[in-house]
Amino acid sequence: MSSLTGKHILSVDDFDRESLHSLYRFADLLQPIAAGERNCTALDGALLASLFFEPSTRTRVSFGAAFHRLGGKVVETSDEKYLSLKKGESLTDTARVFQGYVDVVVMRHKRTGAVREYAARSESPVINAGDGSGEHPTQALLDGYTIARELNRVDYSLDDLKIAVVGDLKHGRTVHSLAKLLSLYSNVTFFFISPTIGTRMPQAIRDLVQSRGHTVYESRHLCDGLPSADVVYATRIQEERFTSRAQAQQLRGRLAINLANYNRWAPHGPPIMHPLPRDSREKPMELSEDLEDLKSFAVFRQAENGVAVRMALFAEVLGLEQGYVLDEMGFSVHERQERWRKRSEVLGDRPDQEPAARSRR
Ligand code: NCD
Repeated sequence: MSSLTGKHILSVDDFDRESLHSLYRFADLLQPIAAGERNCTALDGALLASLFFEPSTRTRVSFGAAFHRLGGKVVETSDEKYLSLKKGESLTDTARVFQGYVDVVVMRHKRTGAVREYAARSESPVINAGDGSGEHPTQALLDGYTIARELNRVDYSLDDLKIAVVGDLKHGRTVHSLAKLLSLYSNVTFFFISPTIGTRMPQAIRDLVQSRGHTVYESRHLCDGLPSADVVYATRIQEERFTSRAQAQQLRGRLAINLANYNRWAPHGPPIMHPLPRDSREKPMELSEDLEDLKSFAVFRQAENGVAVRMALFAEVLGLEQGYVLDEMGFSVHERQERWRKRSEVLGDRPDQEPAARSRR
């Protein structure tokens, strides 16, 4: 049984290298189901409550898609104003009620710590889909998986990685979780690049990664991190978490990456990642559209990986053995592993084509 079975997944701290890599191996095996090539009924009869009290597109839909792809069903609600919470009900009462209705809960909330509070009263496992400026552990899981795939690290190890993390690092929960996840490896170099002192990576996270022996450089300029980076991870200005929107507006586009500055500072072509949404309103975008034809533009492959990784997480949290899931789709474990091993060999020279596009052909 997986070490995650029956557990709440609230933070990257719930993982170690071993549990991460076992999840990633499972995700690899599940890719054909995630891509819709194979059906699976392993979660037949299981019910997921998807509770999103803050806007979400990818995370909500990919959790739902993952659960459906494994044969389960999803009930969702996405606005507190239609719930009894609006009538003054506490999150803990909601949790006690829901645990009688569903097998697992995915929850996003605007307040840091709210998902943990809910989980404390829930006997059904609860997965944190983002709490305020706190954490977004499943995004970090799929980010780590994507980095390993893009860099062709077939054993998933991210030791000795050099990463440039760009944007609003104070309020962005994805980068908090990613930094924690990468700190489980050894000798990682972080270039934390944020537009102002007020958007720096929080001290607690810098201290944590340094206490684990990693190197941290901080800067306000892309040219300080891009030239050495193995991977570039951009994020948006988290406007909704600023006390003054006007102040947030001033920061938009300050660290915009476009084809010209990428070619200038990163001619070695490191993968470009972003958790999305990117700010596509007029003018300053943190990742310009002229990057999209590059092979190294990994953003949509990254989003796509979210389904397989979340499927693996559901399977482990709900105690489904790999063999059972794979039997449910009519392939033996051996056949699956063989297929994916061969696939990594084929992709050995870094993706010339999008992996998912290739696998769908
Ligand atoms: C992120 C989030 O919600 O924290 N999006 C996501 O889940 N993919 C990033 C963001 O909102 O900037």
